[in-house]
Amino acid sequence: MKKTYNIAVIPGDGTGPEVTRESVKVLKAASGKYGFGLNFHEYDFGGERYLRTGETLPDSAIDELKKFDAILLGAIGHPDVKPGILEKGILLRLRFELDQYINLRPVKLYPGVNTPLKDKGPEHIDYVVVRENTGDVYTGSGGVTMKGTPHEVAIQNMVYTRMQVDRCLKYAFEYTRKRNKKKTLALCGKTNVLTYVFDLWERAFHEMGEKHFPDIKREYYHVDATCMWMVKNPEWFDVIVTTNMFGDIITDLGAITQGGMGIAAGGNINPEGVSMFEPIGGSAPKYTGKNVINPLAAISCGAMMLEHLGEEKAAKAIENAIMDVTANKLKDLAAGKMGYSTTEVGDLVAERV
Ligand code: IPM
Ligand code: MN
Repeated sequence: MKKTYNIAVIPGDGTGPEVTRESVKVLKAASGKYGFGLNFHEYDFGGERYLRTGETLPDSAIDELKKFDAILLGAIGHPDVKPGILEKGILLRLRFELDQYINLRPVKLYPGVNTPLKDKGPEHIDYVVVRENTGDVYTGSGGVTMKGTPHEVAIQNMVYTRMQVDRCLKYAFEYTRKRNKKKTLALCGKTNVLTYVFDLWERAFHEMGEKHFPDIKREYYHVDATCMWMVKNPEWFDVIVTTNMFGDIITDLGAITQGGMGIAAGGNINPEGVSMFEPIGGSAPKYTGKNVINPLAAISCGAMMLEHLGEEKAAKAIENAIMDVTANKLKDLAAGKMGYSTTEVGDLVAERV
């Protein structure tokens, strides 16, 4: 009997539904070709639903989503909803409650894609950021006192437990080994200032590396220097592991070096549970419904999802199809400048799969 996966789809806001549709189109083509089944079940979580009902995620959502093999997400963010509500109420809540403790963000320049980095090509830009996804200043630890007075105090704590650090490092070391490229894992931190948190990370990094991953070379970079080298010498990197906040920041930098939000994909991974795949770019409200947005990031998310599910051949086929399209078809990755519509780009990739 052929293997069938149950996929929850959360198209979300803005252009999210348009790009998700193309991703599903390509996934269906891949499942037909490679002999596995995919059942899609759609959820309407997002800004529209919130404006209509006042609810971000119903309480039953988490338990329901836990039953799926994976989740495919489009974009969350609505111009009529105050910033923070949907991000915290949907995206971060899913990441936290499904304990997706890894945010995996490949930075790879595909052939034919323009990078703002001078004299750099696909042979220079190919590394992966493993961003810790449950701790740091994202936990909501802190508070405000004397609000509105000249004495107002605002505190937002950088929080890490040994367990969070260890499980993230373990994933990063194993990923580096499996990737089998330069076999180099770089810890990105700030040991010169954030001496409590990064002392923990640095000790745990070397202890684990020495004991269990002697085949993996270890490097350390401060986060500010990491930004510099990501621009000047991206070819140095293989896998970078870092904290939630630093990972958020450096992966936007990484994304722009690989051609921007139209192409950058990511996975929120719980290696022992349900993982969720989402393009790094937002809901791009001004392009909504115009059939001009680039769906390649969402399509790449589909490939990442298949790889995660163990359908490696199908995942590779999608990635190869994307590379053929960027190399030979698209003029530019920006919305409206591709030379093709959103649906046509989906067709181009699906045909090649
Ligand atoms: C990201 C986003 C989110 C984050 C926001 C929308 C909460 O910037 O996925 O990188 O900060 O993690
Ligand atoms: Mn971000």
